[in-house]
Amino acid sequence: MSEPILEASGITRTFGHVQALRGVDFKVMPSEIVALIGDNGAGKSTLVKILSGADRPDGGEILLNGKPVSFGSPSDAQDAGIATVYQDLALAPDLPPAENLFLGRERVKLGLAGKLGFLDRQAMRDESAKVFESLGVNLKSHRVSVDTLSGGQRQSVAIARAAMWAEKIVFLDEPTAALGVVQTQRVLELAKRVRDSGTSVVLISHNMPQVLEIADRVHVLRLGESVANLTPAESSVDDLVREMTSGTKEGFTA
Ligand SMILES: Nc1ncnc2c1ncn2[C@@H]1O[C@H](COP(=O)(O)OP(=O)(O)O)[C@@H](O)[C@H]1O
Ligand SMILES: [Mg+2]
Repeated sequence: MSEPILEASGITRTFGHVQALRGVDFKVMPSEIVALIGDNGAGKSTLVKILSGADRPDGGEILLNGKPVSFGSPSDAQDAGIATVYQDLALAPDLPPAENLFLGRERVKLGLAGKLGFLDRQAMRDESAKVFESLGVNLKSHRVSVDTLSGGQRQSVAIARAAMWAEKIVFLDEPTAALGVVQTQRVLELAKRVRDSGTSVVLISHNMPQVLEIADRVHVLRLGESVANLTPAESSVDDLVREMTSGTKEGFTA
């Protein structure tokens, strides 16, 4: 058995009177896609923010490769190999795909006397082309700004950027919520490629058939607690919904 890359235990987080997380245990194994599911308000986004340095837990422990970590900011988590793609994608709309991959990490050419010169756009384009190719991302053009790409292609650029700089874990918060069928399939293929390249993926999704199709494991949160770890091959959509809603579904008669 391999060791978890990330193991969070007893994570708590309270906002005023709301106990968003009540002692959550969550782990990520090497090269796996874990789906993180739960009803609205279950605590999914709060957990992802804590594990990627955008929020602090009130209690609990996070181990990365067996060592305790405490992320003070998203860049701490990035330095540790963890990146998150939020729904707003955080792309620079007026820059081309390659420069988006290097946002904040631009390649610069040395100018005269070794002084920092100008952006090395060719180097960034070449490196980006390799990244996109290895992940199977086919963009209609590499020269246009990303705001002219389709929603699915923008999502792919954002995921490729996360995967390029985070060698351990990429969190995806509802990556296909706004996409059509074909683009959704492409983004799911991309998630699999990221996993197969050795970076684990944590996928938040409300699409239960999609979760069963793509995930290696499903972690269910309910009202701020971890309630189940399910194996897709042995689970149905009904099983997932039952875990997410506990007894409440049976009690609901239309
Ligand atoms: N910054 C915040 N301030 C106050 N309450 C919050 C904040 N973030 C989340 N919550 C509350 O915590 C609970 C869990 O929210 P969230 O993690 O967004 O759930 P999910 O992503 O599963 O829908 C909800 O009741 C939500 O209203
Ligand atoms: Mg959420």
